[in-house]
Amino acid sequence: MRILLTGGCGFIGSQFARMALDAGHEVVNLDKLTYAGNPANTADISGHRRYRFVQADIADPGPVADAVAGCDLVVNMAAETHVDRSILEPHLFPMTDVVGTAVLLDAARRAGVGRFVQVSTDEVYGSIPRGAFRETDPVTPSSPYSASKAGGDLQVLAWHRTYAMDVIITRGSNTFGPRQYPEKLIPLFVTNALDGRELPVYGDGLQVRDWIHVADHCAGIMAAAERGTAGEVYNVGGGHEATNLHITERILALTGRDRSLIRHVADRPGHDRRYALDTTKLRGLGWAPARPFDESLAETVRWYADNRAWWEPIKSGEYRAYYEAQYGRRGAAAGGTPAS
Ligand code: NAD
Ligand code: DAU
Repeated sequence: MRILLTGGCGFIGSQFARMALDAGHEVVNLDKLTYAGNPANTADISGHRRYRFVQADIADPGPVADAVAGCDLVVNMAAETHVDRSILEPHLFPMTDVVGTAVLLDAARRAGVGRFVQVSTDEVYGSIPRGAFRETDPVTPSSPYSASKAGGDLQVLAWHRTYAMDVIITRGSNTFGPRQYPEKLIPLFVTNALDGRELPVYGDGLQVRDWIHVADHCAGIMAAAERGTAGEVYNVGGGHEATNLHITERILALTGRDRSLIRHVADRPGHDRRYALDTTKLRGLGWAPARPFDESLAETVRWYADNRAWWEPIKSGEYRAYYEAQYGRRGAAAGGTPAS
């Protein structure tokens, strides 16, 4: 297949591009290169004969129409993805996550693309105190990020109903692994711990997330793309639930640091308490997560320890202004001075 992948210079997208090339597909990677898009993430595949990069915005109809021509499948990963940034600058999120999705959908429809896969998130369901979300549950998003992603999902379902377009939505849980921008919990805490800096835990730290390794997430997206039923939603969850404090303590142990680095700071407004996904439907297509959590977390910590050249330049650029805006008001010197 020739796949138009959007957001392929990001964390999950670059892993998906690698996986698709290994499986023999052709990949056209359309990415705007926002702060989260990093050409270093695709450096190892940039010369591959079945890979092509296009720098463009998914909300820009001209370049999107050119890139989609002749493609069999679109996998839309391009998005503004960080909840905390969406609380600081909410207006930026619908531009890509809703409008961009609509522009891309329509270009795919006009080009007669065989299937459109929307990579979405478990956050569209909101918080669940017990049990696990199924695909038939309503969307009740809490943050500007998840509301924008839910808006994208609704566009995709509308294109299916109105134009009989072949679409699939995947809703993934919290993902971790190499090359994740160090604003998200695991890469932020790992890199801070490696540097002996504080780990800013929001509120009591007893919020629960369902963790999945990036390779398992990508395999789930591919399974849904290849074997899913048009118009359907598929949950992609790792089934490994943990509190943020538990994750923090594992990271401290793996980096040889102690609990004195933990700093409880002001909670995230509208913070969802718990996410959990029922993945029975995707398992019915033959997919299951294969990466054990503890080994994968240890491997991820080693990757950040061995690849300072990847994250140190990020943490010294635009990131510092973001850090000040995000954590200064929370009362943590998270990205600044070492704790001791
Ligand atoms: P990321 O922030 O690492 O990367 C996003 C990529 O999209 C970047 O390369 C960026 O340059 C690109 N991009 C942003 N706006 C664009 C635009 N307008 N046009 C073209 N490219 C644009 O994101 P990620 O964590 O790899 O997430 C990928 C997808 O998976 C997103 O849709 C996200 O909502 C979804 N998702 C992520 C997680 C997670 O835990 N990371 C979990 C579930 C779902
Ligand atoms: O659930 C899937 C979603 O997971 C994706 O759709 C999002 O793109 C991705 O960013 C992620 O969202 P979260 O908000 O769950 O992830 P984040 O890593 O930002 O936070 C995970 C938990 O850790 C959450 O409860 C907030 C908490 N946290 C996060 C940061 C950055 C802290 O306690 N301190 C922090 O500094």
